[in-house]
Amino acid sequence: MLKVAIAGLGTVGCGVIAMVQGNGPLSRAVTITGVTARTKDRARPVDVSAYRWFDDPVALAADAETDVFVELMGGSEGTAKDTVEAALKAGKCVVTANKALLADHGEALAALAAAHGGELRYEAAIAGGIPVVKALREGLAANQIDAVCGVLNGTCNYILTEMSNTGRAFSDVLAEAQSLGYAEADPTLDVSGADAGHKLSLLGALAFSGKPDFGSMLLEGITGIEPIDLETAAFLGFRIKLLAKAMRDGDAVVQSVRPTLLKADHPIARIDGPLNAVVIDAEPVGRISLVGRGAGAGPTASAVAGDLMDLSHGDQRPVFAGPGSGGVMSAGVAGTQVGRFYLRLRVADQPGRIAAVTEALAKHGVSIESFLQKPPEDATRVPIALTTQPVAEPSLRAAIADLQSGSIVTEPPLLMPIEL
Ligand code: HSE
Repeated sequence: MLKVAIAGLGTVGCGVIAMVQGNGPLSRAVTITGVTARTKDRARPVDVSAYRWFDDPVALAADAETDVFVELMGGSEGTAKDTVEAALKAGKCVVTANKALLADHGEALAALAAAHGGELRYEAAIAGGIPVVKALREGLAANQIDAVCGVLNGTCNYILTEMSNTGRAFSDVLAEAQSLGYAEADPTLDVSGADAGHKLSLLGALAFSGKPDFGSMLLEGITGIEPIDLETAAFLGFRIKLLAKAMRDGDAVVQSVRPTLLKADHPIARIDGPLNAVVIDAEPVGRISLVGRGAGAGPTASAVAGDLMDLSHGDQRPVFAGPGSGGVMSAGVAGTQVGRFYLRLRVADQPGRIAAVTEALAKHGVSIESFLQKPPEDATRVPIALTTQPVAEPSLRAAIADLQSGSIVTEPPLLMPIEL
């Protein structure tokens, strides 16, 4: 039996314990040697009274009785980092769902695991129950990955789906999602795109670079999206998703998290509500799509349990070994590529404003593919939504800068890439 300590007894920790206490494979592979959480005495869906209780999580991480330390506390600094470091330094294996920790410190923690002969496993950190780490580093280990993209944040996907289905504003839907418990009380990490970015940095490490690189990705959230954008996108045959994408661009890897218009027949376009999805383009396998629940007790505990089952079989492999481990690729600059774009802006209700918009775009070589002016909301707010033909993004940004510096637009425009 693998001797396992669990730190963090929230939804996921209790989900893992329920699997250990059940009749499935995990109950035959694992025994729990100790637990810790912020509060000892509180109602939980599982009974933890039979396990040794540790007030000090670092002491549990280094406990001599334990083979594997399961970190389910969260946070990129503080206790989570201290405990994972302590466990790895003691030569133990670590299983974690902590994407923020790995995005910020993954390279150093991987080195620590290698130095002390331990394993660091994190299937639960990316897209909850979807086994994408195993897909990349085992199933596709001998492929060349061209791109990995996905919907990696269920909160954002839920909000965008609700906005699209009901025509309601972002703030309304967010407030409702919070009251239903779908969104965190502080939703910043989710709606800013940072949570999806943390997960993408791990996918990028596995697929391309061999180390997480959160710092160089382009990160945009969903707070600026309005019902008019979803409505216009639908009218043009697109859906808007917060798309996390890492792709090969020559010798470099380019990573971004951006609200993106996806053609209605794109495999991710119809992944709605809180679901997550990952699409991998690789040679020679072609395109692979994985869809499933990205959060919650069952899906996340399933991923933690999968890592524990592997460790119970003595499985060993370098932390970020995957198709990308053969050669470390450099970081490319996101936001410089050629593509099609959606641009929404507002101008004053005056003659000549449309001409000024098209003139600024033409000056920078931006060719318009479709153009829609909506009726004025008031004297300073006439919404215009347009899509472009393929153009280098910096040219389009230069045109937008001209529109802003020339006071042609009355508020900052919204720019989103289009994926076909
Ligand atoms: N908050 C995340 C989401 C789940 O909404 O998808 C945990 O990463």
